[in-house]
Amino acid sequence: MYAEKVLSGMRPTGRLHLGHYHGVLKNWIKLQHEYPCLFFVADWHALTTNYDEPGGIVENAWEMIIDWLAAGVDPSQATLFIQSRVPEHAELHLLLSMMTPLGWLERVPTYKDQQEKLSHKDLTTYGFLGYPLLQAADILIYRADKVPVGEDQVPHIEFTREIARRFNHIFGREPGFEDKAKQAVKKLGSKRAKLYLELRTRFQEKGEADALEQAHALLDEAQSLSHGDKERLFGYLEGGGKMILVEPGVLLTEAARMPGLDGQKMSKSYNNAITLREDPDSVRKKIRTMQTDPQRVRRTDAGDPEKCPVWQFHVIYSDAAVKEWVQSGCRSAGIGCIECKQPVIDAVLKEQEPMHERAQVYIDDPQLVRNIIADGCEKARKLAQETMRDVREAMGLDYS
Ligand code: TRP
Ligand code: SF4
Repeated sequence: MYAEKVLSGMRPTGRLHLGHYHGVLKNWIKLQHEYPCLFFVADWHALTTNYDEPGGIVENAWEMIIDWLAAGVDPSQATLFIQSRVPEHAELHLLLSMMTPLGWLERVPTYKDQQEKLSHKDLTTYGFLGYPLLQAADILIYRADKVPVGEDQVPHIEFTREIARRFNHIFGREPGFEDKAKQAVKKLGSKRAKLYLELRTRFQEKGEADALEQAHALLDEAQSLSHGDKERLFGYLEGGGKMILVEPGVLLTEAARMPGLDGQKMSKSYNNAITLREDPDSVRKKIRTMQTDPQRVRRTDAGDPEKCPVWQFHVIYSDAAVKEWVQSGCRSAGIGCIECKQPVIDAVLKEQEPMHERAQVYIDDPQLVRNIIADGCEKARKLAQETMRDVREAMGLDYS
């Protein structure tokens, strides 16, 4: 079976909060059952904006990885690793930089936006301009098919696709491609070769996407083919030359509806977050003191859930009956705010209980986390090295 690969990365921000859980991690946990997944700590990315305060990257990375594991990311299903421990990312970034037009980088919307937003920093750096290309290298080096990201990252994936296309266009052409491709077809064996050519015709003449998909599956199963031949046949399906790098698609992650304790977006920097492994007493205290509808000053004042961040928590955590109880109780002043918050407190504590348990194992024995990452880095590196072999060869750097 042709299994599409999923890849995603997260900057090492330290302890994660409920916003990360409901926005990103729950999605990762679902995906890990459906695809081979690679999840990594984007530590070099942290330096693109925070090069002047590098302290804390390592510590933040370990804390974040424990949170992934606590949330249920399963290292026996997904490959977990750290970007800088797979130095091939840097090599691909460098090689891709040779063919990346400056204008493409300057046009990435986050370039100007972030420079304006983070105007207290000097972001007129080479690294910051090149950050989307580093991200492209992160993705292309694993030939990832799908990248789960939020809306803000979509232009980066589009940019990655353009880079892959340009690379394949420039470096995927080899002398005598057509002949070599025909030779490779023969190596499939007569039955498979016939099917391959039929699928190719269906795709080229009628544009049938599923013919293309079936042909990809067929090639993935064809174990007798060398790497080079396989790529040639991938490329031959779509016309052009060799398909060395794969254009990834976006798996759009819905924006988290998780508000912070004050109703703004939950964020560490707004000081309105509940962390994934928050102490239970602190969870109680934070929710008990969180803001409610400002119009509801006295217990006897009726309130409006739509104007209350607690309601947003109910939307995420409560079933229909509890929601109805909140709606009518709030609007009629039938319930008090403390009462209203209790089911939320209970639900958050219940959600976090297994996270504390899972995390404890890793806190007690940090070596376990190191081993998971060492393992993941090794697996990731193997995949990365395969791609780099092809990339070096295509760019005329094969010294073997
Ligand atoms: N740029 C992403 C962010 O800031 C993190 C990231 C780096 C990433 N490389 C990636 C995400 C590759 C997906 C795929 O959130
Ligand atoms: Fe908010 Fe609930 Fe109080 Fe209404 S009763 S204002 S929804 S906390």
